[in-house]
Amino acid sequence: MSIWRVLTDAEAVTAEAVSLIQQAGDEAIARHGEFRLVLAGGSTPREIYRRLATSATGIGKWRLYYGDERCLPVDDPRRNSRMVEESGLAAKAGGHFPIPAELGAEAAASAYAWTIESALPFDLVLLGVGEDGHTASLFPGHVWPETDLVVAVHDAPKPPADRVSLSPRALRDCRHMLVIATGVAKADALHRWQAGDPLPIHAVTRGISHTVLVDASYVTG
Ligand code: 6PG
Repeated sequence: MSIWRVLTDAEAVTAEAVSLIQQAGDEAIARHGEFRLVLAGGSTPREIYRRLATSATGIGKWRLYYGDERCLPVDDPRRNSRMVEESGLAAKAGGHFPIPAELGAEAAASAYAWTIESALPFDLVLLGVGEDGHTASLFPGHVWPETDLVVAVHDAPKPPADRVSLSPRALRDCRHMLVIATGVAKADALHRWQAGDPLPIHAVTRGISHTVLVDASYVTG
């Protein structure tokens, strides 16, 4: 079942995402003593991470994983892990598990599959959406083996070309899935997704419960 919530603006999406992640964290810790959270990359979640770093309760029991990473040196500012570290969230969490994408896509995918295998099912997977309907680093026109947990990505249309991504199989193995998208540039992809176009975001969410937080530009866009 999908729940779509159209909020007034990006700030409202940020605030609601923080609240829903905190709720999922409290629920997971009560259930099994820790919170296994998969983080989205890109720029939309940056402020969410900053707020969680300063306000989240129980964060010492949070274990942070990544939906994808760019194949760049660990200190490259374009890395998703750098965004999380700079937000302060990585240092506050009980566990932080970046994708070793600096090793190269294939080696990193193989190593990270071992890392996440014992973390499944995730408690919450946070995802962004690209203007072309990609999510994580799963892009239109690409194919990925059904059984793999983590995939190596090359010729990604969103630079850098080489990336590592959790597969649909891994991303879907979760108790909660939260998708965030703001800005008029995402409106077309969101409408296509809702229309059932075979986009990567559709492949990842179809048939499982998920919540989508969008801002008003989804309506006006
Ligand atoms: C990445 C992200 C990617 C991102 C979307 C949305 O590494 O680029 O994982 O999937 O979530 O492209 O990006 P924005 O939040 O910057 O719009």
